[in-house]
Amino acid sequence: MPKEKTITLCINGRDEEVSVPPHRTLLEALRALGHVEVKCGCEKGDCGACAVLVDGVALDSCLMLAWMAEGSQITTVTGLGEPDAPHPLHQAFADLGGVQCGYCTPGMIMAAKSLIDRNPDPSEDDMRTALSGNLCRCTGYTKIFEAVSAAAARMRANGDRP
Ligand code: FES
Ligand code: FES
Repeated sequence: MPKEKTITLCINGRDEEVSVPPHRTLLEALRALGHVEVKCGCEKGDCGACAVLVDGVALDSCLMLAWMAEGSQITTVTGLGEPDAPHPLHQAFADLGGVQCGYCTPGMIMAAKSLIDRNPDPSEDDMRTALSGNLCRCTGYTKIFEAVSAAAARMRANGDRP
């Protein structure tokens, strides 16, 4: 059995320790720590359900080893806001029907956050490209694009900065 090592991951601004063997993925480590808001789908980089921000960039956490994320800022969907102070993306997905079963939603929101942070006024093509690694079997995608567009507009109107 490979030897386990205790690593520290900074998740949503808080340091958390976890003991992992070298082959443990970031997805597995996050869920073992109770971050079940990070969803486990294909575990091979196809569905995007497991996406988190690592230093502001949306990555599939099933494709990254946990130890590689030491020293980085990891953000999950719950790190963007609170139920009584939701992020504009949370609010827009809820308002505009971008959530149905919800399984893809955490990954979609993280991919959308990464997009809006670098492109505050994304076109539909920009959204299609940025979210192309995130699969949804419920919504048909139109409502998701409407939600991302609305959130971006609200953030521009509020003068929100990444
Ligand atoms: S679970 Fe990571 S991409 Fe599907
Ligand atoms: S809302 Fe069900 S998979 Fe997207």
